[in-house]
Amino acid sequence: MSTSKPPDSSRPAAWHITPMNPAEAPWPLLLLADPSREKVKRYLPGSTCYAARQTAQFTPSGLGALIGVCVLQPPQPERDSWELMNMAVSPSWQRSGIGSALLHHAIGELRKRGIKQLDVGTGSFGDQLLFYQRLGFRVSSIERDFFLRNYTTPLWERGVQLKDMLRLTLAL
Ligand SMILES: CC(C)(COP(=O)(O)OP(=O)(O)OC[C@H]1O[C@@H](n2cnc3c(N)ncnc32)[C@H](O)[C@@H]1OP(=O)(O)O)[C@@H](O)C(=O)NCCC(=O)NCCS
Repeated sequence: MSTSKPPDSSRPAAWHITPMNPAEAPWPLLLLADPSREKVKRYLPGSTCYAARQTAQFTPSGLGALIGVCVLQPPQPERDSWELMNMAVSPSWQRSGIGSALLHHAIGELRKRGIKQLDVGTGSFGDQLLFYQRLGFRVSSIERDFFLRNYTTPLWERGVQLKDMLRLTLAL
């Protein structure tokens, strides 16, 4: 299990990472990364998921409130590698290392299972691209007009409409 570093070893870590049942994934987090509820409903049930949970705030399940999710889809008939389908951290917890730790944990689990490659598609050529590159992902292709063809409502990032999808690959 990965955890944040406690500032004082006598106190519990602020968050920790666990496997997650796909049915438990919270919609507000999933929709942060993928605004198409229809698409999420299609890939979520068969996916392998990990969660970041707030250690200090225990829920009735005893596992802690969910503050980050990572959703990985196994190979499909049309694609022979694993794909990172959704990755999101609650806005108030972003930029404190949780996203990197979640993905790092997921990558470690795939490696243990002998999986050789992980793909991800992103419409962002900015912050998210940097986030994935820091973890070792390399650009493998560009799908022009992907977001125009596959989403019914236009998607925007800081005033720029997302049109093309950048496909990134990590050799495991
Ligand atoms: C992308 C995301 C999962 C990263 O999680 P995180 O916990 O914030 O990431 P980390 O703290 O581990 O890493 C932060 C780094 O990622 C990059 N980054 C990611 N999102 C960023 C943002 N919105 N603003 C600035 N930098 C961002 C930066 O390089 C940042 O490094 P820095 O803080 O040194 O500048 C999170 O920002 C998020 O949930 N975003 C909204 C949903 C989303 O876009 N998901 C990805 C879909 S492709």
